[in-house]
Amino acid sequence: MTTNTENTTAEHTTRTTDTGMTVLVTGATGRVGRRVVESAEAAGLTVRAASRSGTVRFDWTDPSTWAGALRGADAAHLAYLPDVGAPGAAGTVGAFAREAVAAGVRRLTLLSARGEDQAHATERAVRDSGAEWTVVRASWFAQNLSEGPLLDAMRGGELVFPAGEVLEPFIDARDIGDVVVAALTGGDRFTGRTLDLTGPRLLSFRQAVAEVAAAAGREMTYVPVSAREYGAALAGFGVPAEEVEFLIELFETNLDGRNARCSDGVREVLGRDPRDFADFAGEQAAAGTWKC
Ligand SMILES: NC(=O)c1ccc[n+]([C@@H]2O[C@H](COP(=O)([O-])OP(=O)(O)OC[C@H]3O[C@@H](n4cnc5c(N)ncnc54)[C@H](OP(=O)(O)O)[C@@H]3O)[C@@H](O)[C@H]2O)c1
Repeated sequence: MTTNTENTTAEHTTRTTDTGMTVLVTGATGRVGRRVVESAEAAGLTVRAASRSGTVRFDWTDPSTWAGALRGADAAHLAYLPDVGAPGAAGTVGAFAREAVAAGVRRLTLLSARGEDQAHATERAVRDSGAEWTVVRASWFAQNLSEGPLLDAMRGGELVFPAGEVLEPFIDARDIGDVVVAALTGGDRFTGRTLDLTGPRLLSFRQAVAEVAAAAGREMTYVPVSAREYGAALAGFGVPAEEVEFLIELFETNLDGRNARCSDGVREVLGRDPRDFADFAGEQAAAGTWKC
């Protein structure tokens, strides 16, 4: 029998089921983290949903929050913000991973990115932590167009972005959530593995915006700009200079065509095809996500 309870302490609220593994999910209110939480709960795991504003308080920049977040966890899913390859990511993620192992966490998954050389040191830090690890290298999320900083532009009908006409195999964040949980619960099948995850189809950003526009029944355009122009706009919105420089480098390298291929990672892990972008666009349009 499975029970669901809410244990509220002064520190956190933890959703509990009695099927065994307790997993700490970082970035739990984010595009991927929310789907990891949903998949883990559907699989009957006990979930500690962590972020700065989450039910379990956790801040990458404040190590005093780490021990409390790790309490009782057998496994943890790591999503480092602002980016897995950002300056300082490897040191911070490595320190956290080692603390997790010392606290009794046996299994770690790391959300990483395809073709991102800047993320390799962070991946290495997790591999060297002593945990049973799985690195999940994902392509661009479809949900970048329906949640987060690009949503306002999409609602406004014009996405300005430095992706030229490059082709990208957009992945549905729900598939990443399902793969993470399969890796955490799949015995040793996926430990010590770096998984390459993509959607089933290559699309340019122009095509992706056009598919969204068609699904939403309204006009939307894609306006490619250079990474430098985009960086200047971010700086204008108050993004710190160091982060802007990192993002410019990231866009110039990661969106240069190196990732323009599909992989069979989702099928290998889940035994089914990845969700198609058209399904994502249709569902979100029906939910009114891109209404003006
Ligand atoms: N976007 C892509 O297409 C893509 C592709 C591959 C890999 N990635 C990687 O995916 C990760 C981002 O995942 P996402 O897009 O799901 O995240 P997201 O939607 O941007 O959400 C960020 C999450 O992290 C939390 N967070 C932010 N700052 C934090 C901090 N200092 N300490 C602890 N938690 C913090 C946020 O909650 P609070 O605000 O409550 O803290 C939220 O839960 C990055 O590591 C990125 O490199 C992204």
